[in-house]
Amino acid sequence: MVLTWRNCALVLTSSFSRRNYSQELIRNGLVGMVGRTPLVRLNKLSQETKCEILAKAEMCNGGGSVKDRAAYFLIQDALKKGQLKPGGTVVEGTAGNTGIGLAHMCLAMGFKCVIFMPNNQSQEKIDLLRTLGATVTTVPVCPWDDPNNYNHHARRYAESLENAVWTNQFDNRANRQAHIETTGPEIWTETLGKVNAVVFGTGTGGTLSGVGTFLKEKNPKIQVVLADPQGSVLYNYFKHGKLERTPGDSITEGIGQGRLTENLKGAPIDDAFPVFDVDAVNMTFQLLHEEGLFVGASTGLNVFAAYKLAKQMGPGHTIVTCLCDTGHRYYAKLYKKEVLQSRGLLDTMPQVYHRYLH
Ligand SMILES: Cc1ncc(COP(=O)(O)O)c(C=O)c1O
Repeated sequence: MVLTWRNCALVLTSSFSRRNYSQELIRNGLVGMVGRTPLVRLNKLSQETKCEILAKAEMCNGGGSVKDRAAYFLIQDALKKGQLKPGGTVVEGTAGNTGIGLAHMCLAMGFKCVIFMPNNQSQEKIDLLRTLGATVTTVPVCPWDDPNNYNHHARRYAESLENAVWTNQFDNRANRQAHIETTGPEIWTETLGKVNAVVFGTGTGGTLSGVGTFLKEKNPKIQVVLADPQGSVLYNYFKHGKLERTPGDSITEGIGQGRLTENLKGAPIDDAFPVFDVDAVNMTFQLLHEEGLFVGASTGLNVFAAYKLAKQMGPGHTIVTCLCDTGHRYYAKLYKKEVLQSRGLLDTMPQVYHRYLH
């Protein structure tokens, strides 16, 4: 047969429709791009510590962060409970990444998205949320027990609308469930059950408690460790039983907490330690310099914690954490000289990393 444009198209169409695609490998739209992220070996740190330091590359989720898993489960939970019906509105209080995940899901699933966030978050995340069609309101930073805290704004707004849900990422355990059903099993399967410890910074607590809960069921000897940024109460709570902040406020976003959320309550945590900004930030740039990984500071904190744990546990252990999101979301803040200088983080940064700053 002589191939013309017309019969060429016919041949292609019929062979495409006959082809048996692997349903395992094809993801169903954006929603299908949640989970099954790569587990990445951090080569230099693994070599140095003689441990396997591995990280789930959560920026590979469809919405670009670890929070896509929670966003998907929160929406599914609202649908199951009949709180959200077609065309309805999803309302959330979020430091950014959950909102970005929700906004992506809302576009893909036909919902409206309204976000309330504290006014100290990066401009990139706010701009992205607006680009994704979300209505964004920034409010002054207030503690949880103040009625003007961003979460209470979100709750009140959802209550004022028909067919709207406040997804309540901090206290709705559908968030933790996302990690019990996806992240935990992925880590278990991908390490062939050889994982010895997991360590994460925590915001809502969903990742740490969900992964920890799943893995402890599989093997109670797996160590579940909380890494807490400066200015958060969780280290003092888990080590000394007091909800007392460590000094300082942190350049990291999305992690650190002033209270015990429902998602964190009952989490099987074996140990906790604080990670200071200087270490989190230097590790963020070390990951860029040595591994080519362009990430945010909560990832730097996670990986510093995994490195510290590897040193404590000694050679031969497998330690898993996650790369929460990419550096694009913090380009104007974390990657800017003036900002690091104003926080006293420039002079403590090895000179070799200064070339990555603007
Ligand atoms: C950048 C980033 N890292 C880590 C986390 C923490 O995840 P979790 O809420 O599951 O504790 C968040 C949460 O918002 C985040 O935005």
